[in-house]
Amino acid sequence: MALYVKAAEILEKAERKQGALKTLVYDSKFQNIKQLFALVCETQKFSSVLLDIIESTKLLKQTKLKLHLAKVLVYDLLMGQGLKCGGSFKSTMMKHRPRLQAELARMKVKRKVSRNEDLLPVEAQMPPGEQLPRYVRVNTLKTTVEDVVDYLKRDGYTYQGQASRLDDLTLKEKNFVKDLHLPELLVFSPKTDFHDHFLYKAGHIILQDKASCLPAHLLNPPPGSHIIDACAAPGNKTSHLAAIMKNKGRLFAFDLDAKRLATMSTLLLRAGVTCQQLANQDFLKVNPDSPQYKDVEYVLLDPSCSGSGMVCLQDRTAADQSRLASLAAFQLRCLNHAATFPRLKRLVYSTCSIHSQENEDVIAAFLQQNSTFRLVRLLPQWPERGLEPLSQCLRASTSKTRTHGFFVALLEKHSEALSSTPQLTNQIRAVEEAKTVTLEASDPEDSQTSPPGKTEDAPSSKKKRRKRKKKQKTEGNEH
Ligand SMILES: C[S@@+](CC[C@H](N)C(=O)[O-])C[C@H]1O[C@@H](n2cnc3c(N)ncnc32)[C@H](O)[C@@H]1O
Repeated sequence: MALYVKAAEILEKAERKQGALKTLVYDSKFQNIKQLFALVCETQKFSSVLLDIIESTKLLKQTKLKLHLAKVLVYDLLMGQGLKCGGSFKSTMMKHRPRLQAELARMKVKRKVSRNEDLLPVEAQMPPGEQLPRYVRVNTLKTTVEDVVDYLKRDGYTYQGQASRLDDLTLKEKNFVKDLHLPELLVFSPKTDFHDHFLYKAGHIILQDKASCLPAHLLNPPPGSHIIDACAAPGNKTSHLAAIMKNKGRLFAFDLDAKRLATMSTLLLRAGVTCQQLANQDFLKVNPDSPQYKDVEYVLLDPSCSGSGMVCLQDRTAADQSRLASLAAFQLRCLNHAATFPRLKRLVYSTCSIHSQENEDVIAAFLQQNSTFRLVRLLPQWPERGLEPLSQCLRASTSKTRTHGFFVALLEKHSEALSSTPQLTNQIRAVEEAKTVTLEASDPEDSQTSPPGKTEDAPSSKKKRRKRKKKQKTEGNEH
């Protein structure tokens, strides 16, 4: 019952513009966030259809249920998992089930359609070709991609090899492929559900959207590194980082939300992660000069955002400008704070937002305020780039990358800015300046700050470009 009451409460608050669905769900402190989120999203998606059914059957009058609660119950009864509650809600709804089912059937006949999805307004329907594939990240702390492929083949799935084009990710029934960009990712048809599968329950596979695998993959910390995951819960990216580091090194993970952190702790245990140190702490208050963070060279920052890239929220979460502005201010503060860790080398920033205010604009402001950082050009073969001029960054979307909407930027500290003392930095700078003069400033972009957007794309000679490309390659930036 609690699930339905909570879902109804959230839908009502969202309608009154008291917050975005995603935030309201996470703030609800409900035990099973995933279940609540799915129910709220789906009910909202079918809202107009549910309203028609409720009105035609006069359900509110006959049951005294409030509208939002009725919507949630009707959704789960007719289109969802079937009511999972007992008590008065169940007995009420079961009494009305035949009429509700009949009304749904009548609507389908009238519209000459067979699927529930076909009843949605056209703009809310996802064309069959655009339904997102199911992505499964193999947890290399527990198994290998080959072992998982073999296991699934024995389990009735058909392996179709390595994908080489985006179209190869359009899969049917039990077919699956290896992803074309990320080596530990397997791709399945949209209807596949592994929540009850042994491999998932044993932590051998993680159910994670492809775009959300990008930040850890791109940060690519070597085993033994010290890393901060600044806003970490529920921890999919943390476990991905731990897998990349082979559990060697130290992974400091912070989150403000104790409940989400507790869930994360369970997930990390299941995934066999052992190098983590979790803290229920505001990242903005973490002291960068504390001795325990003296070797931190990598930071993953995936802060709270509008969630507008999540498919079920798209087109429904109107961009509330003041909310976006306050999220962007928070995101920039987090980035600026991350930049103060004394030995930081690389900082990856990501959001599941489609709004440039939370993405390119935040990065541009950061670069303006932090002259020692520059953007790294990411995955040249990735089909969707950051909005110009920040094309070094990646974007993701249902249409171009077959994922949820997402944004990633990788920031790297200039090599001369990494020296431990300001005095030394000045000395190096003096030497660099002398060199620059002697060499007639052969590559100013490598040693100076570039304003946002000019870090990679400013006009430069072929020689400079070649040199930079070579440097990026040797440092492993291009994945
Ligand atoms: C987008 S979610 C992170 C998802 C996570 N990186 C993952 O992959 O599972 C953002 C998280 O930031 C947390 N958060 C918000 N403000 C914070 C702060 N000041 N310090 C630490 N965590 C914060 C929220 O509680 C939320 O869990």
